[in-house]
Amino acid sequence: MQKKLIGPFKQVLSLADIPLKGAISDQQLHVIPESGIRIEDGKIVEIGTYSDLKAAATADTVLIVPEGDQVAVPSYVDCHTHIAFAGNRANDFALRNAGATYLEIAQAGGGIWSTVQHTREASEAELVKGIIERANFLMAQGVTTIEVKSGYGLSILEELKMLRAIKEAQKELSVTLIPTCLAAHMKPRDFEGDNSAYLSMVADNLFPLLKEEGLTTRIDAFIEQSAFSAEEITPYFEKARAYGFDITVHADQFTTSGSAVAVAFGARSADHLEASTEQEVALLAQSDTIAVALPGASVGLGCAFTPARQLLDQGASLAIATDWNPGSAPMGQLMAQASILATAQKLSNAELFAAITFRAAHALNLRDSGRLAVGEQADFITYKTDNYQNITYLQGSLQPEQVWKNGTNIFT
Ligand code: NIG
Ligand code: FE
Repeated sequence: MQKKLIGPFKQVLSLADIPLKGAISDQQLHVIPESGIRIEDGKIVEIGTYSDLKAAATADTVLIVPEGDQVAVPSYVDCHTHIAFAGNRANDFALRNAGATYLEIAQAGGGIWSTVQHTREASEAELVKGIIERANFLMAQGVTTIEVKSGYGLSILEELKMLRAIKEAQKELSVTLIPTCLAAHMKPRDFEGDNSAYLSMVADNLFPLLKEEGLTTRIDAFIEQSAFSAEEITPYFEKARAYGFDITVHADQFTTSGSAVAVAFGARSADHLEASTEQEVALLAQSDTIAVALPGASVGLGCAFTPARQLLDQGASLAIATDWNPGSAPMGQLMAQASILATAQKLSNAELFAAITFRAAHALNLRDSGRLAVGEQADFITYKTDNYQNITYLQGSLQPEQVWKNGTNIFT
């Protein structure tokens, strides 16, 4: 049994005892001063005053002393990304900023379909390489769990290629990837038939293979005018549920409709919500579905932010994720984006940290990560600073010193 004592830290941000839902004040962050973290076999067995922990340490405990003043916080969970892709949409970005509409960008060869074409042209090995590079870029920011969607394949074989690439990339990474099937991202232009026929084809042919190969436990869909309607998605989600898949939804991005479906199906999360009104906010607040804000897409598209303040005040659970993708959210910087959302929506530090740790973990159905407390996985990051407030204050420019996953520093 491997035993480690890490410390002393100026502060450890525990986040223990914060409820899953609703507004949070910074008093609830549970900041432990002059503290240490004791680990056995990758799990936290004690957190407390460092001098006490050191005095009680057994001879076989390895002492790890951080250099200078450092603080420790739970490592981050990015619960919504599209980091499996090929190609580049810088031209879409330039056109959009020059005033082009969605339709004009699509007509110029841009949009989701252009990424589908590049992703289909890429080999599985090329996709694996891209996933590894982007996952490591997130890891250096302190992210140790990353959800990764398919959705740029949009045929049985190409969706399988994407999900197999995510599985292969996992073998080379210390961070955990959580794969999600987003075959319902849009109806591919080369499918002959309507939206419902495409969705039936996917459910009938792809769902059993996903189960057989163990490629994912999660099904996502984009409910929007440019993608699928609530009516079209309902039978698709019924089939997904019959297979035992968890459901998650791209909801209310430009028009409302997705969040009602998400709540009706008991989805783990409803993501985007930039267009949600009081009605959708109330619905989400009364449900167990986690509301996921994607400020990277708001910044990328120059659109409204998710009404995060309203969601929290009404009692919803709020997570924040990067939505990293080549089109709407090319930045891929979680803390920068969360800090921007916090200034726009007036989120407390506690609400920000909860949104990128245990509340985001919950959206992925991970119950024992995202907090620093006894019995939780020893997944934490350290920063060279004496006050955790500097982390959000510096809006992403303060980078972690160490990144610990299951009791091991993976950032070397
Ligand atoms: O989450 N909203 C739909 N899908 C992605 C965008 C994907 C793309 O533009 O390539 C999103 O923002
Ligand atoms: Fe997305």
